[in-house]
Amino acid sequence: MSLLIKNGRVVTSNDDFIGDVLCEGETITAVGQGLTAPAGAEVVDATGKLVFPGFIDPHVHIYLPFMGTYAKDDYDSASRAALVGGTTSLIEMVCPGRQEDPVEAYKLWKSKAEGLSACDFAFHMGVTRFDESTPAALKEIVADGTASFKVFLAYKGALGVDDEELYKTLALAKELGVIVTAHCENESLVSQLQAKLLAEGKTGPEWHEPSRPVQVETEGVRHLMTFAELTGAHVYVVHTSCKGAVHAAMEAKLRGVQAWVETVIPYLVLDDTAAQKPDFEGAKYVMSPPIRAARHQPFLWDALRSGAVSTVATDHAPFDFGPGDGSGQKEMGRGDFTKIPNGIPSVEHRVRLLYTHGVATGRIDLPTFVNAASTRAAKLFGLYPRKGTIQPGADADLVVYDPAVKETLSAKTHLMATDYDAFEGWQVTGRCDLVTVRGKKMVEAGKFVGELGHGKFLKREPTHF
Ligand code: URP
Ligand code: ZN
Ligand code: ZN
Ligand code: ZN
Repeated sequence: MSLLIKNGRVVTSNDDFIGDVLCEGETITAVGQGLTAPAGAEVVDATGKLVFPGFIDPHVHIYLPFMGTYAKDDYDSASRAALVGGTTSLIEMVCPGRQEDPVEAYKLWKSKAEGLSACDFAFHMGVTRFDESTPAALKEIVADGTASFKVFLAYKGALGVDDEELYKTLALAKELGVIVTAHCENESLVSQLQAKLLAEGKTGPEWHEPSRPVQVETEGVRHLMTFAELTGAHVYVVHTSCKGAVHAAMEAKLRGVQAWVETVIPYLVLDDTAAQKPDFEGAKYVMSPPIRAARHQPFLWDALRSGAVSTVATDHAPFDFGPGDGSGQKEMGRGDFTKIPNGIPSVEHRVRLLYTHGVATGRIDLPTFVNAASTRAAKLFGLYPRKGTIQPGADADLVVYDPAVKETLSAKTHLMATDYDAFEGWQVTGRCDLVTVRGKKMVEAGKFVGELGHGKFLKREPTHF
């Protein structure tokens, strides 16, 4: 099966030209101008449209037992949602409980995707305990093709690791050449501030942010950077929300620490007034680190433009709001904000929100957009140039984007499994007209037309020595 996409504006992280892309089988075989279609090829006219490499979301949660409940999506809903939003590869966090066997947990997480996912997928292996059996288990997981780890410096007593475990995880990562992604918040400060606020009767979702202020995140990043400096490990700070945290990572980079920074789409487009919405609606916007005051947004956009922030992910973590009778997942935290399951669903909307609020407003240019939403993740996580670019030999993962279409986001129409949409009623500029995964059409005219189970596990080699 061949597909020739003609006369589109082809944009990669370092190129932008009007041209054609030829896909044969699962692979891109030619990129240029005036390409001729081989016999039997389907020809798509992309005049007036943008042609992007498939987008990569390097931080999602799909199967997630967390805070006494389970995230709502599975790979059926999440991969279809990702694809209509232009995301062709997901990297999911494996988050075992501290008592769980890492290899068993890894197999469980992988089994949730295999045979079901419509898009390609990979994993970051969560290290939530480190004892004498951990190195062998992690070596087995890396040998299977999962060449990155995840640590939590938050979530005391649940997913969080202590300093000895952090040191040993980073030292092992350095030895194996894998990058360590990290959730950076000082867990002791969080638990002290939570207790203080609750004792003062401050129980609503609007107190989530004050319980994890910017200093807590900044300290978490500094802490990680000290450990990275002393072990030589390569580290990637996930979901960075504020100026202090980015500065802490950049200061470390200037000392020679191998560090990269991710932000997530909610921080770029939402501010702390979301969690202050009345009638407990603020709970829809509770995630950690919290959505910050609006003044952090222009800083994050500048940081994206300058490259201080490398990637824009989602941290998709979907929990239902509920019908309002107390039975919903977010409602578990009515009367105690510390019990609101943390997370915002956004895997479907990341690319279009980034285009709308970044490219269409002139905050970032098209190559920066592609870099942040696809190419950088491919390079950092061992997927490049198979993913993240448009060149002969790359997987035929493509997005034909029509910037002339405007659509309104809503829980009534989204494919994510949650009963609410954090961006309800927001208008976005552009639609993913055509999306392919390894040459197969998964989305046409913005609708999912693909096949569940088409997605493949992406084996990755260590690259961070
Ligand atoms: O609030 C969040 N971020 N929920 C998902 C778990 C995590 O910390 O990434
Ligand atoms: Zn996190
Ligand atoms: Zn510290
Ligand atoms: Zn996360």
